[in-house]
Amino acid sequence: MYSEKVMDHFTNPRNMGELENPSSVGTVGNARCGDIMRIYLDVDENRVIRQCTFKTFGCGAAVAASSMATELVKGKTVEEALLVTNKTVMEALDGLPPVKVHCSLLAEEAIHAALWDYAQKNNLKIDGLQKPGNGIHEDGGEEY
Ligand code: FES
Repeated sequence: MYSEKVMDHFTNPRNMGELENPSSVGTVGNARCGDIMRIYLDVDENRVIRQCTFKTFGCGAAVAASSMATELVKGKTVEEALLVTNKTVMEALDGLPPVKVHCSLLAEEAIHAALWDYAQKNNLKIDGLQKPGNGIHEDGGEEY
């Protein structure tokens, strides 16, 4: 049911935990399953993401998706990180079962929320970045 990569990132998550003095933090949740994901970014003066970590209170797929998402955004500029979508995360994980697609969406939203927080704190406009909702969104997606 789960790919080897999903199992690998679930059993051996990368970049798990809080960041001390992060540049920004984004927290999102899914009201239907109750899972919550938080992403921490450390961004340098060139707007490159030096470090990205996560804390996820949720299912195994959400843990794997957060772990992969942190790996994908590390080393990217904040603008490039915006292009990491749930599809990117799913592809990098060699897929997720349909009922778990929303878990990867949570990862995309958590990154966006952290990028938004960064933009706010630095008076920056990141093209294409939209203000996150209230942090906890209700839409679990049709496939849930
Ligand atoms: Fe809700 Fe995975 S994030 S079940």
